[in-house]
Amino acid sequence: PIRRITVPDIAGRKAQTPIVALTAYTAPMAAMVDPHAEVILVGDSLGMVIHGLPSTIGVTLDMMILHGQAVMRGSQRAMVVIDMPFGSYEESPEQAFRNAARVMAETGAGAVKLEGGTRMADTIAFLTQRGIPVMGHIGLTPQATNTMGGFKTQGRDDATWPAHIADARAVQQAGAFSLVVEGVMEELAVKITEAVTIPTIGIGASARCDGQILVLDDMLGLSGRVPRFVRKFGDLGPRAENAIAEYAQAVRDRSFPAAEQTYR
Ligand code: KIV
Ligand code: NA
Repeated sequence: PIRRITVPDIAGRKAQTPIVALTAYTAPMAAMVDPHAEVILVGDSLGMVIHGLPSTIGVTLDMMILHGQAVMRGSQRAMVVIDMPFGSYEESPEQAFRNAARVMAETGAGAVKLEGGTRMADTIAFLTQRGIPVMGHIGLTPQATNTMGGFKTQGRDDATWPAHIADARAVQQAGAFSLVVEGVMEELAVKITEAVTIPTIGIGASARCDGQILVLDDMLGLSGRVPRFVRKFGDLGPRAENAIAEYAQAVRDRSFPAAEQTYR
């Protein structure tokens, strides 16, 4: 049996070869990602990508657990990290522990991820001291969309940089084993990466982070509009649409099913 990549494996990847991370929400997608990535994130982006929600705000703990179970079944090598959804951890360290413990116990995943720097440090410490590894997430934090008034690149004003760097240090100090840095000015991402000894995983950040993550559906070309920081490594959306159109045509002209698809 293949050994799963562990939290110490990832924590040890500071300034090494970059950590490859991608999201996945289903067993077959996790199986495709598994041989190529060290980390599979079951991101709360699944609310938008899979469930058609307008933001991540409506994602529930039960949704995260259901998709987390599917991704664990589909993978064997990568470390699986599961996002704590909005409302499941912000109230108190105790609330966060109760819900994160459910995620860990019901999915078997390796770690949870939660958004917030300095403001979440006490909660991160409470979890890590009690056996729940935490991946941090700072910079652009999508669960704060309503207070931010949308998704805004962080650090355009360099007067804000010390606060972002303090966030990174607080997350590390609280015991997180790695840190997602999302949607920040490139130079700030480099400064954050240099400010901490835990690996940073960038998205819309910098190639000089210790790893990169993208939303799988975005990089496969399965999403519609994507942020500027996404590179479309594939074009599966239009290809799927063509296949569906050809099926519809074949049904209508009775060329499907043909001899090969019928029992005689
Ligand atoms: O929800 C998500 O997919 C994420 C990554 C993009 C970092 O948090
Ligand atoms: Na997320």
